[in-house]
Amino acid sequence: MANELRVGGCEADLTSPGELHSAMEAGFDLSRALYGGPGKSAAEYSGAIASGVRHFSVESCGDLSRLSRAAGELGEPVAALLRINPNSAPKAKLAMSGVASQFGFEEEELRSLGARIHEFASAEVKLAGFHLYWGTQIAEIDAILASFEKTVELADELATIAGIEIGILNLGGGFAWPYAHRGQGTDPSPLREGLAGIHARSGASRSAEWWFESGRYLAGSSGMLVSRVMEVKRSKDDRWFLILDTGIHHLGGMAGLGRIPRFSIDLIVPESRIGAGTRVVDVVGPLCTPLDCLAKRLELPVVEPGDLVAIPNVGAYGATASVGAFLSRPAPPEVLHRDGEILAIHRLRTGHERVR
Ligand SMILES: Cc1ncc(COP(=O)(O)O)c(C=O)c1O
Repeated sequence: MANELRVGGCEADLTSPGELHSAMEAGFDLSRALYGGPGKSAAEYSGAIASGVRHFSVESCGDLSRLSRAAGELGEPVAALLRINPNSAPKAKLAMSGVASQFGFEEEELRSLGARIHEFASAEVKLAGFHLYWGTQIAEIDAILASFEKTVELADELATIAGIEIGILNLGGGFAWPYAHRGQGTDPSPLREGLAGIHARSGASRSAEWWFESGRYLAGSSGMLVSRVMEVKRSKDDRWFLILDTGIHHLGGMAGLGRIPRFSIDLIVPESRIGAGTRVVDVVGPLCTPLDCLAKRLELPVVEPGDLVAIPNVGAYGATASVGAFLSRPAPPEVLHRDGEILAIHRLRTGHERVR
């Protein structure tokens, strides 16, 4: 999958040593990759720099200091993009900027620091631009364009205040694609014209490279979770439970733990079951906790134990966004296929590593 994205012209956007490893295996040019995320340790920075990563999104003065130390010790020149948390929020399903969050420098903080931000950068670190990621699933093109326009205005202003020559402006994305539901995302092609206008109106940002980040729009449709119906159980008050051999340890675990609102799913059932009556069911998994619930009160064609069912559009945030180690149940095999031919099978590894 990562290899397909590379061949299609993407660069790598990284946020962990595991993602760095995948990008390396897929043959990405790591000197063009961007490594971001809050709370990066000095060891993480050193590992990434030693592997060839040269661009980092930094989220605070402390983060910039840790990057500076790591780059100084290795004597390697790197570029830092300052991640901004602006004052206003976007129209996103999950706003990650413009709200109180752990992400980025507060807009006001950068304004009041001004050129003093350079004091946190060692000689090896060039402050090369800005990064602003507003949030995910911004479904309307006009809302995405409004967020990009705001990003450019802020970058132009802050570049002047801080004395930064913008070489790279990372405008983020938020390009929508359904998650665990049938269907497709918003067609992004109208962005081209709007972006051309924003580019023409921009100031210091105009000569920069403009970068964008996308997760689910690119990867979501590539994955479908196939599962077997283990039991169909009738319980009190005529409530029905569809017990699958998959659950929150494979999908949506963060929702199961109450970390984000519970999501709903589409469940694709065998064609032979369609048209022979429906039943309202809770779709649950095999874990010993009532939290292991993928959907409540879903009306579905009646299925039987042994049937295969499938959840579409989970190629992004599937197994890696779940509580995979919970109860030490096995991770699902991930089968990569094209035109009916199986190309590779992977399984996420969990377990305990002896450290002493
Ligand atoms: C900084 C950053 N960039 C990109 C993404 C990818 O988001 P999406 O899958 O909505 O494209 C995320 C997701 O949380 C993110 O935090």
